[in-house]
Parts: sequence; structure tokens; C-alpha cells
Amino acid sequence: MEEQEVFKMPLIGDKAPDFEAVTTTGKMKFSDYAPGKWKILFSHPADFTPVCTTEMSGFAQNQELFADLNTALIGLSIDSIHSHLAWVNNVREKTGVYFQFPIIADLDMKVSKLYGMLQPSESETAAVRAVFFIDPENKIRLIMYYPLNVGRNMNEIIRALKALQFSDKNKVAIPLNWEPGDKVIVPPPKTLEEMDARIADTSCEKVDFYLAKKQL
Ligand code: BEZ
Repeated sequence: MEEQEVFKMPLIGDKAPDFEAVTTTGKMKFSDYAPGKWKILFSHPADFTPVCTTEMSGFAQNQELFADLNTALIGLSIDSIHSHLAWVNNVREKTGVYFQFPIIADLDMKVSKLYGMLQPSESETAAVRAVFFIDPENKIRLIMYYPLNVGRNMNEIIRALKALQFSDKNKVAIPLNWEPGDKVIVPPPKTLEEMDARIADTSCEKVDFYLAKKQL
């Protein structure tokens, strides 16, 4: 029986693996790219395919919003730079949507393997639909993996990015289905003294001392 190659997948909290790559905006050394910014590195299975075209268009239509959120976008697929350029131009001609962010041409699958985007039981030649949220210190903070046949949700990608940034800024946790403006979770007490203080605290909405929310 043929043995399957085993790839180590990066995990939440890991430093984003570094690489050099050819992209639609030129050569990139990832660790030097967009210093001080959040980065969203995302893969799509193949150029000139329908679901991928809708997803890439979704990223492109939100390019300004991502810039406002201090976030650089980087796409990737296991296609050539010529294919990327032809696809970008085709989508621009047909729909007016222009993918201005870099798209990595990962023909040797080096980056796909480094980021666990190549999942051979799903496809041996195409990357799955991965999204890596990487903070300005180059730490991986959130990972999404979708299969080839299900497109991602742009609203959730944007919500997750806003949630990470809000949580970092305010040192709070983010509850189920949170949207900007909603109440957030106050960190639960860790000592009896903190527990008693929380029980006495009337400034937040409490189910009990360990589950309290407040409006910021
Ligand atoms: C698509 O983007 O439509 C697609 C790509 C690869 C496999 C299946 C669907």
C-alpha cells in the first residue's frame, strides 16, 4: 500500500511559517510583507472555477473594508502566475471586480504544504479553502478550512477579524453570534475574592458569577 505524505499543520498560536513566493504583485517574503498589519492568507482550489470566482470576488469587493481594518489580503492557489493573471483580467472584464491583492502562484505546493492547505484525501492537486488570520506579530490567531465544494462566508470572515481585534483591544472574550456593538464576556473570576466582587458587581448582566456580559 502506498504511504500518504504527512504534513504538519500550523496551529492557532503558532508563528506563521515563513516562505518566499511569486505572486501577482511580485515576489514576496511573507515575514517582510505588510509589517504592522493583520494578514489574511487564504487559498482557493483553482483559477477559472465558479465557487472560487465568487469567493475571490467577495474578498475583492471588501478590499477597502479590510484596509480600514489594517488587514492585508493574500490569496493562493496551485496555479501558474499566467493562469492567475488571465483569471484576474477575465473577472475584471466580465464583472468589473479587480483582485488587486497578491495571489501566490504555488505551483510547487510549497506554501500549501506548509500551511496544511493540501489535504490529500480531499484533493492531491488542489488546495482546500483555507483562511489564516495572522496578527501584526505574525502569530496565527484563527484558522478556517472548508472543503472544495462549499464556499466560505464573507460576513463570518469579517466578523471573526473584527472579533479578534476587539478582543485584543479590550481584553474580553467574544460570545456566540457576537456582532460589533453587542455585549461581550467579562473574564471570569479566578479567586474567591474576585468571585465575591463579581457577585456584588451590578454593572454587568449576569447569568451567574462565571458568565457575565457587559456593554463596552
Ligand atoms: C469551484 O470553485 O467551483 C470548485 C473548485 C474545485 C472543485 C470544485 C469546485
